Amino acid sequence: MAVRGEGVYVWDADGNRYLDFSGSAAVNFIGHGVREISDAMAEQARQLEFVHSSQFTTPVAEEFAQELLDFAGEHFAGGAVYFTCGGSESVETALKLARQYQVEIGEKSRYQILSRQQSYHGATLGALAVSGNRKRREIYLPIVREFEHIGMPYCYRCAFDCTDSCYNCGQQYAAELERAIEAAKGATSQNNVAGFIFEPMSGATLGAVTPPPGYLQAVADICRRHGVLLIADEVMTGMGRTGRNFACEHWGTAPDILVAAKGVSSGYAPLGAVIASKKVVDAIAAGSGAFLHGFTYNAHPVSVAAGRAVLRRIRSLNLVHAADSESAGTAGSALKIALESLRDLDAVGDVRGLGLLCGVEFVADKKTKAPFAPEKNFAGLVGQACQRRGLLVYPMQGCVDGVAGDHLLIAPPAVITGEEIEWAVEQMRAAVLESAAQAR
Ligand SMILES: Cc1ncc(COP(=O)(O)O)c(C=O)c1O
Repeated sequence: MAVRGEGVYVWDADGNRYLDFSGSAAVNFIGHGVREISDAMAEQARQLEFVHSSQFTTPVAEEFAQELLDFAGEHFAGGAVYFTCGGSESVETALKLARQYQVEIGEKSRYQILSRQQSYHGATLGALAVSGNRKRREIYLPIVREFEHIGMPYCYRCAFDCTDSCYNCGQQYAAELERAIEAAKGATSQNNVAGFIFEPMSGATLGAVTPPPGYLQAVADICRRHGVLLIADEVMTGMGRTGRNFACEHWGTAPDILVAAKGVSSGYAPLGAVIASKKVVDAIAAGSGAFLHGFTYNAHPVSVAAGRAVLRRIRSLNLVHAADSESAGTAGSALKIALESLRDLDAVGDVRGLGLLCGVEFVADKKTKAPFAPEKNFAGLVGQACQRRGLLVYPMQGCVDGVAGDHLLIAPPAVITGEEIEWAVEQMRAAVLESAAQAR
């Protein structure tokens, strides 16, 4: 039972303190218990707790929308923001927005959304349909409508024999998208694909796998050539987590629709945002004039007030820079150095990631990269051993083939200090050694 949070720490009801090394689930970016956020929420609740978006907008929603557009960069100038209550709602919104965009511009045959294997886009049925996370979707498959899931580059377990940092295989994976767009035409030879959704960096499913050089640029180019909207799911990677405002910036890729949640409110309130570029907004404005979609709690004033205060905090403490692992002296670079030190452990096969979104993959045999037997639940064992030491991490299984493969996702708040990182990685080391002894 958690009862209190402050900075990078959470306390349970028995008074035990835990260092939140996974930001809960890559949610918390500004630290727990920040008074100015709860003050902004309370002030908004006192002033106006709720109005329905069919009747009103609010100053806080309008102002925060503009601030988010600015934060998303010049590619989104003249765009618009649609606020939801989280990641899954935002993904559903983005999928419907892509379909409506195509209808508005006269491409009525386009309805399919392509996506990738080993991905996660949310728990609702539309989001689950485009997800590739086998465990999380398997039993629901009979009730979802599915389109093609293409392969995804995963350099540590590259299926191609690469000697060029996976540049060439990245191009081959991108070419799968072009083939899937062509295949979706079927016998009709009509264009049927409305959008392609992807995580710029894998989140929980593969544990912070980064794309090879040139891959995302190639994917963006294919989408542009085929009139397919590019939808970046930055629910985990957005709002500074990877050391850029949005992770797509690392690869110079500008999506048509950007999906954000988690870090948008840093967990202080349920909030997600779909950031649409001008091209998408203009198509609807010039067509039917309204997006045919809505949740009761769209742009909830208290949630939006939390988001706005969080973005101010991110800016005033320069937290995007703090997360940047490519800049010396930052929390991001300290995390990278500390996690890299775990490579000497027999059970650690790979350490990867960017900024404050990292993954540590475990193997039973380092040479062959053979994973632990899934029933050993190795990541779960490490997670429990960490927790006994007062450290919270995010254990996952299935990175190899959807079932086998163990890894941890590490995503601490950006206010973490170098000493806290060192202490946390010492606990991880001890937890891995203890779990390896238990698993053998
Ligand atoms: C990339 C990505 N998209 C979507 C979601 C779904 O977000 P939520 O759990 O807020 O509905 C998640 C959740 O982990 C995610 O990581």
